[in-house]
Amino acid sequence: MYARTHPDFKTLAICDHPLVQDRLTRMRDKSCAKTGFSDGLRQIARLMTCEMTADLAVSRRRIETPLAPMDAPCLADPLPPVIVPILRAGLGMAAGVEDILPEAAIGHIGLYREHDTLEIVEYLVRLPNTLQDRRIFMVDPMLATGQSSAHCVEVLLAHGAQIRNIFFMCLVAAPEGVKAFTSRFPEIRIYTAALDSHLNEKAYIVPGLGDAGDRLYDTL
Ligand code: URA
Repeated sequence: MYARTHPDFKTLAICDHPLVQDRLTRMRDKSCAKTGFSDGLRQIARLMTCEMTADLAVSRRRIETPLAPMDAPCLADPLPPVIVPILRAGLGMAAGVEDILPEAAIGHIGLYREHDTLEIVEYLVRLPNTLQDRRIFMVDPMLATGQSSAHCVEVLLAHGAQIRNIFFMCLVAAPEGVKAFTSRFPEIRIYTAALDSHLNEKAYIVPGLGDAGDRLYDTL
């Protein structure tokens, strides 16, 4: 396993795998264009999915190989997991998680911040009918203030998710956001590729990589 738990944030795992770190460095570079950015995000999400799913329960089922019967390991959970990208940039990460978990359902949550009041506004919530007893992978590349991700958790709980089943994957986190999120949801495990220095006055992560949605969709 290539994730280390942060000493100050017990539920934060930082994925130190060399491939994750190399791809993230390429993405951070301002000369990295749209395709390099989206490929990197997808590759990192695939690698981090292996880490994030390492504790999935395994059972055995009887199969016949061409040579002999065997009781072979398989995933025990009868219900497929749910990937929940927070729009927009979460879509780029969800693609990588879905590459590894093609059986997963995809729920979408779209949020924006009201310009004057800074209130979070939901503009899209489209989730599977049942979230109960399903493992949920919430994905958003940038954990900045933690407000969108916390709002997303509230939406999932209101739709029947159990907090123990919610996992959060991001790419770059700011200490301010991790602190805000973990003080509200101390049970939820967060997986990130990096914990950066701080947020600037516009709530961008420093050194970060800029606006993830704009870089992913070339809308700068
Ligand atoms: N969202 C981004 O896309 N980038 C940041 O640095 C912070 C929030």
